[in-house]
Amino acid sequence: MQRPEPIENEKEVTSIDLIVSKSDAEGNITYVNPIFVKISGYTQGELLEKPHAILRHPDMPKAVFRYLWEHITKGEDVVAFVKNLCKDGSYYWVLATVKMAKNPDGSFRNYMSTRRAVKPEAKETIGKLYAEWLKIEKEEGEEASWQTFNAFLNENGLTDAKSFNTFMQNLNR
Ligand SMILES: Cc1cc2nc3c(=O)[nH]c(=O)nc-3n(C[C@H](O)[C@H](O)[C@H](O)COP(=O)(O)O)c2cc1C
Repeated sequence: MQRPEPIENEKEVTSIDLIVSKSDAEGNITYVNPIFVKISGYTQGELLEKPHAILRHPDMPKAVFRYLWEHITKGEDVVAFVKNLCKDGSYYWVLATVKMAKNPDGSFRNYMSTRRAVKPEAKETIGKLYAEWLKIEKEEGEEASWQTFNAFLNENGLTDAKSFNTFMQNLNR
């Protein structure tokens, strides 16, 4: 996928903004709300049916997305900070809650992500952690970064999705 060149320009997500999207089982976008469209800089037509990775910022460590997918495929909600890339190369931080929705018969329906603004202190804390995991990913590989990420979870007692989510939410209080 051809990605925009990142630039050092942050777009503001205000406390009232709720950035929503839905996807199929592979993460391809099936719905975006108007705020999603506006902040991303893409048109709705450019986003629909594209993978969510269209927003992937190179500052994001792979371990975070691996954790996300390991849990959402099991039907467990995940709350995580994400730095996203806009069409013009700008970025914006969000605290995303990703959930699986099921049909009345219990079969998979879609995934939905709702994203809210991130407090400056949380950006500072999580930005440093992500930079550390990304550095290990680049220097020692994805598996080493994944192990460091999991060591962090163990050291902080974040051994299930529920405690992980609470930890992330508390960072943004
Ligand atoms: C509902 C849903 C929303 C997602 N939202 C984002 C997002 O906002 N930004 C992002 O980079 N990845 C998002 N992802 C994760 C992507 O599917 C993908 O795992 C990630 O961008 C890493 O891409 P890569 O594996 O190609 O490196 C979302 C996934 C789902 C299921």
